[in-house]
Amino acid sequence: MSANDLLIHGGRVVFEDGVREADVRITAGRIAEVAPALAAPPETPRLEARGKLVFPGLIDSQVHFREPGLEWKEDLFTGSLCCAAGGITAFFEMPNTKPNTTTPALLADKLARAKGRAWVDHAFFLGATSENADQLGEWEQLPGCAGVKVFMGSSTGSLLVPDDPTLERVLRSGTRRVAIHAEDEPRLQERYASMAPGTGVRLHHEVRDIEAALRATKRLLTLAEKTHRKVHVLHVSTAEEIELLRERDLGELVTAEATPNHLFLCAPDCYERYGRLAQMNPPVRERRHMETLREAVADGTITCIGSDHAPHTLAEKAQPYPKSPSGIPGTQTILPLLLCAVRDGWLQLHDIVRLLVTGVLRTYPLRDRAPWQKGSVGDAVIVDPAVTGPLRQEWLRSRVGWSPFVGIELAGWPTTTIRRGAVVYHEHAPVGTPSGEIVRT
Ligand code: DOR
Repeated sequence: MSANDLLIHGGRVVFEDGVREADVRITAGRIAEVAPALAAPPETPRLEARGKLVFPGLIDSQVHFREPGLEWKEDLFTGSLCCAAGGITAFFEMPNTKPNTTTPALLADKLARAKGRAWVDHAFFLGATSENADQLGEWEQLPGCAGVKVFMGSSTGSLLVPDDPTLERVLRSGTRRVAIHAEDEPRLQERYASMAPGTGVRLHHEVRDIEAALRATKRLLTLAEKTHRKVHVLHVSTAEEIELLRERDLGELVTAEATPNHLFLCAPDCYERYGRLAQMNPPVRERRHMETLREAVADGTITCIGSDHAPHTLAEKAQPYPKSPSGIPGTQTILPLLLCAVRDGWLQLHDIVRLLVTGVLRTYPLRDRAPWQKGSVGDAVIVDPAVTGPLRQEWLRSRVGWSPFVGIELAGWPTTTIRRGAVVYHEHAPVGTPSGEIVRT
């Protein structure tokens, strides 16, 4: 028996196509069998899951963990601890750190920093620039690289590919799917320049308006079609883009992501209640966008959900708009919020597996992650559906210590996170030492 053997007994296991009572046997850190009433050698550690839900390890394909250079907001230890606490067993981290992750040496530096400090598995994006555009095709094949990320519009940090010729060079360099922040830089420049003095965060979604998002996504789809390069539209924020994605229907060429922020917050309410804490790019918009995004998540127009975990301190957020930085922490609350969506009737439990595992694998193929397949990584998350009541601030693990979702009525909570057959987080506390590995592409 190894320390990575485990029998998860008596739970309701969530598959991509439904929920069934089954035991999960993990041997040497890999899924061995998932079936009712499994036997295991008597010395195998056993986790009782009666009355609980058992999810496969979930993947958050968009987080900003701020290391190197901005560690007062978050670092790879604290960020990955948020993952473990929230049932996320693999994350893909974004390149807008300081320095930006734009070369193989800077990617290697992040991987070295994650070794022995990341609680869960990981990969890192390379940021596209006009300088590195032609080399990205070679570099995206490096171990530990999640792919290439493009900022079409300025957001937090200095990464930017504002024009079509450079974007086309990026798309022609390489084969893996490219992750895109689609806001149109010229439109953003124009909007910020014409902003009336004293404009507050309540108008953030008017400043970075629908047109800014829609123009960029249109440009992107045209270039994806022209170059035959697969793209992933990150954090879709408008009903208009959803309509466009449905109309253009480019099949596997285009996948799309929604964030919990755009699915659970809406204007003007979020700005009235949370002020600049609700400020992110692209912005949270009015209810009709939220409702359309919910439908798109349910009907598969949206391929996967990423948290866009983007922590900033309360002091930074207290600066007057538009100096206040954009971004909301969220990797720890992604699963609890989706459990609320199931309670509220707009998702089913098995949709969570599609949105946080198989949809991610469609977007970014990974080895050994197909849910509950023999030989897949032995990662799992136990959710206690009996944990209701308000989400408590003291459970949060992000260095910044806040979330707009503190106080929401829960419909379950991840109580135990298992990585490779070993418990890494249990009842609000980490277990053992960080031993996350590079995800295998
Ligand atoms: O709101 C955002 N925050 N959007 C981004 O694109 C970046 C992120 C951050 O890194 O803070």
